[in-house]
Amino acid sequence: MSNIKSKRIAILTSGGDAPGMNAAIRAVVLAAHHYHIDVIGFYHGYNGLICAESIDQAKLIELSDINSIIHRGGTFLKSARCAQMQTEDGLKQAAKTLKDKNIAALIVVGGDGSFNGLLALKNYWHGQLIGIPGTIDNDLDGTDFTIGFATAVNTAIEAIDKIRDTADAFERIFLVEVMGRHSGHITFNVGIACGAEHVLSFENFSVAEQASKLKILATEIKDAQQNRHSSYIIVIAENLWPGGAIELTKKLKQLAGIDCTACVLGHIQRGGSPVPKDRLLATKMGVAAVQAIVAGENHIMIAEQNSATCYVQLEQAVKHRKVVNQQLIDAQTNILALTAQNQY
Ligand code: F6P
Repeated sequence: MSNIKSKRIAILTSGGDAPGMNAAIRAVVLAAHHYHIDVIGFYHGYNGLICAESIDQAKLIELSDINSIIHRGGTFLKSARCAQMQTEDGLKQAAKTLKDKNIAALIVVGGDGSFNGLLALKNYWHGQLIGIPGTIDNDLDGTDFTIGFATAVNTAIEAIDKIRDTADAFERIFLVEVMGRHSGHITFNVGIACGAEHVLSFENFSVAEQASKLKILATEIKDAQQNRHSSYIIVIAENLWPGGAIELTKKLKQLAGIDCTACVLGHIQRGGSPVPKDRLLATKMGVAAVQAIVAGENHIMIAEQNSATCYVQLEQAVKHRKVVNQQLIDAQTNILALTAQNQY
């Protein structure tokens, strides 16, 4: 058990915001209150640590601050990406702020870039460093889910269900681009749940083989349209095709005369009220982070594996990008084969 009692801990939210970050802050503050620990919130991600001379960058979070925030998207502490955390000066300044403010432990809610910041900080500051996985991308290794993923998937599904209605009415082909940075977790989950006719992601499509792959795709689209006279939706991962869905629609037109409409869902997937699954995950992880600090843990990410909360070394969480479940990829491949045979 560490001697954290009566000390102060800090929290910040960093990188791409994710629905459920507010719920995580709330849980941290409530759990800390239980242990009589004060929580200092730093604003604007790591920038809040680096520019801490500004009075607006740090604040003792009171219980009144966390009233009515569990259902709010975004993060009331604000978020940012911070290039200075990759410089020695920035890291020294962040460490100095933590020392000056007598902080015993720092909790960062964010994704892999934010956790790399934590790992870099470990060479300059010797307090406890704890990560809570908050990113819609769900790409952190060692945790089944990250905060925000379920909401982002839900938001994209709601949008594509609406696209389906108009696509059906016009028997149109749509290419819908979803977020996920360089991972296909959102793409596959959304594609399957929407009954998309095709999913194009890093895991099943390589731009290097584009000539052969596009030919097959064009044939599939034409066959499907001839046989079924209905809509055809392709869910595509952002950053997969140079220029994204918009450029790929042009390519399909040029290559095979196929008319399709591109729709980039973009940041709509980062906003909105977190779904229950994200509120619960954030609450469990926020409480677990404070318990880990009280127990003297260091350099860990709070994780969920098989519905149980556990700890994973920060190094492991960022070493490899978590791969998409192969069963999910296979399921999409099998569905595609059935669709092509017109068996349903
Ligand atoms: O990491 C979260 C995420 O939303 C990714 O899915 C996306 O690629 C990226 O952030 C977008 O970042 P920004 O909002 O800085 O453009």
